[in-house]
Amino acid sequence: MTTTTTAPTSTTVLDASGVTMRFGGLTAVRDVNLTVNTGEIVGLIGPNGAGKTTFFNCLTGLYVPTEGKVAYKGTVLPPKPHLVTQAGIARTFQNIRLFANMTVLENVLVGRHTRTKEGLWSALLRLPGFKKAEDASRARAMELLEFTGLAAKADHLARNLPYGEQRKLEIARALASEPGLLLLDEPTAGMNPQETRAAEELIFAIRDKGIAVLVIEHDIRFIMNLCDRVAVLVQGEKIVEGPADVVQSDERVIAAYLGTPFEGAPGEAEAAEVEAAEAEAQSTTEGDDK
Ligand SMILES: Nc1ncnc2c1ncn2[C@@H]1O[C@H](COP(=O)(O)OP(=O)(O)OP(=O)(O)O)[C@@H](O)[C@H]1O
Ligand SMILES: [Mg+2]
Repeated sequence: MTTTTTAPTSTTVLDASGVTMRFGGLTAVRDVNLTVNTGEIVGLIGPNGAGKTTFFNCLTGLYVPTEGKVAYKGTVLPPKPHLVTQAGIARTFQNIRLFANMTVLENVLVGRHTRTKEGLWSALLRLPGFKKAEDASRARAMELLEFTGLAAKADHLARNLPYGEQRKLEIARALASEPGLLLLDEPTAGMNPQETRAAEELIFAIRDKGIAVLVIEHDIRFIMNLCDRVAVLVQGEKIVEGPADVVQSDERVIAAYLGTPFEGAPGEAEAAEVEAAEAEAQSTTEGDDK
């Protein structure tokens, strides 16, 4: 099968090669190669169960891939989430994971911990260094809330935010670790069309700040507007990769993906997604492994 791949370059931010993830007899991700370069927004699409989230989990150290390696800016990453975050990769989750009973600002401050040098004793003893670091962290967190349009809600509890704003808060918290690469797992799930357009603008603005983006999304229009390059996963394998317009008209993609869920009843699919997402947000904002 022919697939276009982008060779790693000096501007390669992410270089995942030969990533395979097996769960017992099931191969959820099979020998996937993917690069993301500086200044790029890359899309990852594919039907439900194709292995997209599993691939993200392999990139971020939540799963130890059965085979393959993941390099960030030329250095192979150990599969440990905190080390991956420290190296410069941040992510959001398909099932929102916020601290529901903490404020919006506090959630962003949590995201800053990998970038704060002051240790536990400094915090407990309230040493001057800690106070200074805390002030700087707060200032940076407020800046990120301005950037994501949440500043007016800094003191609200996360659980009281509407669903679309919870998704934005997850992005603000991810940005708080000062990443060079941001991984977004279905950032517009549950959003209305206006919120989706705003999310698009936000992601462009993130890219313009020099942060590369890899984004999973089912909303094809969103992906096609946003992405420089799109990779398609089907049953764990990358079947096609290329510029958005080329991928969109690729027969294999249409057959494997676009043809079935989207052409039939886009309105219904969207409504079902919104409903499911809202139910999820209400039941808990501290989800499972995804
Ligand atoms: N921890 C796990 N243990 C066993 N199987 C798993 C695990 N995580 C994922 N899988 C399986 O791997 C496959 C890929 O799942 P994954 O969640 O990565 O798909 P996806 O492309 O993100 O789908 P969706 O679009 O629905 O989010 C599925 O068959 C899923 O059941
Ligand atoms: Mg998923």
